[in-house]
Amino acid sequence: MSKLWNFLAMVWYQLTFKPQPLPDNIRLDGLTAIVTGANVGLGFEAAKELASHGLSKLILAVRDLSKGEAAKAEISREAPECEILVWKLDQESWESMVTFSRRVSIELDRLDIVLLNAGLKRLEFTQSPTGHEAHIQINHLGTALLSLLLVEPLRRTARQTGKPSRMTITASSVAFAAPVQDILEPKGGKGIIPWLDNPGSFIPGDSRYSLSKLLDVLWTRALAARLDPTDIILNTLNPGYCKSAFHRVDATAEWASSFLAWSSAEGGYHLTDAVVRHPDSHGEYLSEQRIRPVPRIASSAKGKEVQTKLWDETIALFKAECPDANIDEFTRGE
Ligand SMILES: NC(=O)c1ccc[n+]([C@@H]2O[C@H](COP(=O)([O-])OP(=O)(O)OC[C@H]3O[C@@H](n4cnc5c(N)ncnc54)[C@H](OP(=O)(O)O)[C@@H]3O)[C@@H](O)[C@H]2O)c1
Repeated sequence: MSKLWNFLAMVWYQLTFKPQPLPDNIRLDGLTAIVTGANVGLGFEAAKELASHGLSKLILAVRDLSKGEAAKAEISREAPECEILVWKLDQESWESMVTFSRRVSIELDRLDIVLLNAGLKRLEFTQSPTGHEAHIQINHLGTALLSLLLVEPLRRTARQTGKPSRMTITASSVAFAAPVQDILEPKGGKGIIPWLDNPGSFIPGDSRYSLSKLLDVLWTRALAARLDPTDIILNTLNPGYCKSAFHRVDATAEWASSFLAWSSAEGGYHLTDAVVRHPDSHGEYLSEQRIRPVPRIASSAKGKEVQTKLWDETIALFKAECPDANIDEFTRGE
């Protein structure tokens, strides 16, 4: 889909669709949820909505504990019955992600819901401390590693309760406008991730962000194919164009948000809808709170090859750069 067509489609749904909160009769009593990027924006609003539907325990996964405590205070006012814990998580640090997942295994007796929502947009090339380009590190590698690390506690809970646990990855409709050539034919001869880490591949603007969101869609499909949906229902979604601090680096997007964007709360409604409802959405992409077709590349034969390459490269990278991560079930035979 061309960038212009994607833009027009976005304008249409922003003006005509009204995001809906979870129906009042949905109760989450007894359940435990993790939300990443939960201190502000869509993650905060989604965490608040989950808590207000009777959730028993909520882990706000944040990279700044003081911001997390402020979010906790606000959510607690609306949902005093929910036990809220603020845990440190930095997707630019392998150690932080591994420590977080160990804490989940040791300290939580169950895990029912995971919203992998943290993300960033930059218009200029920046490198994370791990050496990877920042979108690749935070939006793809960080999200992907957590999705693997949290499979075991989600699955254990599902087998105890007899009900599938839920995991949702926040993507975006900008995935439809991503520069796919960079992943179809990465230059440099070393693969997709080394090419995207190369400053020479970065075009100033939002195209790397779009590409990182396409990687979220491809990763969701690759991992979903390896999971049993009676254990974990995994999906991905577009929360729509929403007012939040997210667009602060992008003057045009920030300006247009004043008349086109939904509120952060309405963005959050999409996250809670995707992670609580739609039992038939395993491996699927949701937009406007319903299952929608994926970007064409994701369903094409060539796209499936790219998806396999992305999976293989990502798993090999975790083995090499994050050997402490317990992802053995996914590395066997790789
Ligand atoms: N807003 C939109 O229009 C829109 C549209 C489509 C998709 N999305 C997606 O929705 C998600 C949430 O966006 P938002 O609008 O709520 O943005 P936001 O207000 O900027 O929130 C982003 C969250 O991600 C966290 N984060 C960033 N880097 C991190 C890292 N290295 N480790 C851990 N957490 C990190 C941020 O923490 P700090 O506060 O500490 O920076 C913050 O909590 C993102 O994945 C974004 O791509 C947003």
